[in-house]
Amino acid sequence: MKEKSLIKGNIHYVGVNDRNKHLFEGMWPLPYGVSYNSYLIADDIVALVDTVDAGFYERYLNQIRSVIGDRPIQYLIINHMEPDHSGSLRLIKQHYPDIILVGNKQTFGMVEGFYGVTGERYEVKDGDFLDLGHHKLRFYLTPMVHWPETMMTFDETDGVLFAGDGFGCFGTLDGGFLDTRINLDKYWDEMVRYYSNIVGKYGNPVQKALAKLGGLPITTICSTHGPVWTENVARVVSIYDRLSRYEAEEGVVLVYGSMYGHTEEMAETIASELSEQGIKNIVLHNVSKSHPSSILMDIFKYKGLIVGSPTYCNQIYPEVESLLDKILLREVKGRYFGYFGSFCWAGAAVKRMADFAEKSKFELVADPVEMKQAMKPLIYEQCAHLARAMAERLKKDRN
Ligand code: FEO
Repeated sequence: MKEKSLIKGNIHYVGVNDRNKHLFEGMWPLPYGVSYNSYLIADDIVALVDTVDAGFYERYLNQIRSVIGDRPIQYLIINHMEPDHSGSLRLIKQHYPDIILVGNKQTFGMVEGFYGVTGERYEVKDGDFLDLGHHKLRFYLTPMVHWPETMMTFDETDGVLFAGDGFGCFGTLDGGFLDTRINLDKYWDEMVRYYSNIVGKYGNPVQKALAKLGGLPITTICSTHGPVWTENVARVVSIYDRLSRYEAEEGVVLVYGSMYGHTEEMAETIASELSEQGIKNIVLHNVSKSHPSSILMDIFKYKGLIVGSPTYCNQIYPEVESLLDKILLREVKGRYFGYFGSFCWAGAAVKRMADFAEKSKFELVADPVEMKQAMKPLIYEQCAHLARAMAERLKKDRN
């Protein structure tokens, strides 16, 4: 076990996999599960970096003990206090009563608030240092990646960055935990979905953290979720950099609600014309079927966004409205935008979506299209016009 868990130097992987939870944070589906990663630095002085969800404590403790046996742990470094990582904190403190908690000023208020745990602590400030023997650790405060207390810990000896949620992704680690030893196919999309769902609002803090860490000779990224990145460090950093700048590739996400298929027909017409105009990345999402988690992932991927809604009780269709709120909450920037809608006897959805168009500050590519009851030749032409305007705007960016 000891050798199997080894990452580099005296650093071991002691995380766990959750294949039971349906919804992360009670909201986000986990088709491939999620890992809660913790790391044990079994040096002259032993340090544990973050813990795991409390439900996995017994398994977690077994993994720790399989590396260090009966040796005590001197330090618990708390990079992030969200309970998927701090959940076992109180139990670890009970098992290792002399353990010194390492965190920043914001951390310890949460430690007491969540767990009522006090005791010896090392309160670090940005740039503070901890010498474990072979490994020399430096702490970097990275607030709002993903909570105010979040920090990262860098091992200056071997270039290992313990990044908290930073560079994380959904998906359990089935067998190996090193990126060199697993098929990574599923993780790339799961990284975008994780980022857009969980961290998406915090683009500016992520950019600040990237700037702070920019000069470090990082060889390995140990996130709290997903694989340990060694060969793919540059790719992972570049994905987080692009997402946190809200940069996106050419393509259109077409999201619509539809009760009887009429608004869907408008969406199909727009999609067909986009294709005719040479746009290849076109993703249609029926809000009543696609989970917002996947829709947000695609909105973070693609530069074009077109939203359609029927009028419902004189409002935007509720599922569409809920999605628009989620987009605004994440402060997504820089999208090309179009919208359309329908009504039976009095139009409201299109009028109300104008609010979203304004608040989002997206670039409107054409006037909205509004349909009464069902498709007619004029509406076909207006939908096609909206699609052509979107395609033109996207194609301008090609050179
Ligand atoms: Fe994985 Fe913000 O906790």
